Amino acid sequence: MSYTNILSQIQNGITTITINRPSKLNALNSHTIEELHTAFQQADTDTQTKVIIVTGSGNKAFVAGADISEFADFSVAQGAELAAQGQALLFDFVANLQTPVIAAVNGFALGGGLELAMAAHFRVASDTAKMGLPEVSLGVIPGYGGTQRLPQLIGKGRAMELIMTAGMIDAAKAYEFGLVNHVTTPEELLTLANKIAGKIARNSSVAIAAAINAVNAGFMDGKNGFEAEISEFGMCFGTADFKEGTQAFLGKRKPVFPGN
Ligand code: COA
Repeated sequence: MSYTNILSQIQNGITTITINRPSKLNALNSHTIEELHTAFQQADTDTQTKVIIVTGSGNKAFVAGADISEFADFSVAQGAELAAQGQALLFDFVANLQTPVIAAVNGFALGGGLELAMAAHFRVASDTAKMGLPEVSLGVIPGYGGTQRLPQLIGKGRAMELIMTAGMIDAAKAYEFGLVNHVTTPEELLTLANKIAGKIARNSSVAIAAAINAVNAGFMDGKNGFEAEISEFGMCFGTADFKEGTQAFLGKRKPVFPGN
């Protein structure tokens, strides 16, 4: 499948989706969001894809935010619709994907860019990355999940300050806050993301999907994470991966997971 604003390629079971609008610092316009939805959906249903990496093209930006030129004259109703549609198509969609998603943050991750990185299951960053939610400097608030996911990841007080000041933190601070798991050089960023993805890809994909569901349940209204864990744990006992994983252990060999 060919796209206008993104690239998607698979290698060794790892699909890398690259947002590719460098002249606009990879800002997310509606077409890019639709293309990302399609690419994530395709990768998730592709049995060859074990892990997805999302990154930005060029060395300046991961994503510098939602495309401000698209919504500058929106009404109240259009503003609410923009947030609802974006969350459904991309941000909640990615957070609840059954395939693990790693964000490789290669530069500015601002507004919708940081929100996309936070929707991923975890993040690695280059030491040139800068992150923030500058929406209040535009007279608006984060609308793609930022007011919820930032406090979950770094704590309420830090999130309040970052949102209220419209400030940016560098990669070292993001690491200290737990917003990113690893920091490396720009040259090594995708190598590192691929190395971690490779470790994930060796494990049971059905068990990983169950773990994503259980962890996410604890952050959802009206769901009990412990109950979700019990249910997902039980589900694993009915899978071929569980039989293979346990038999391989008992037989002192490496498992070859069928992925179901
Ligand atoms: N939406 C639309 N266009 C954007 C954009 C965004 N969020 N972020 C950057 N761009 C565009 C710029 O308009 C510019 O386009 P042009 O060359 O056609 O004028 C191009 O990308 C390069 O950006 P520029 O501002 O010239 O780069 P810079 O190095 O001077 O500054 C930033 C980089 C990231 C600090 C600055 O682009 C910025 O503040 N962007 C907006 C961040 C933001 O508020 N995001 C939240 C949106 S809700």
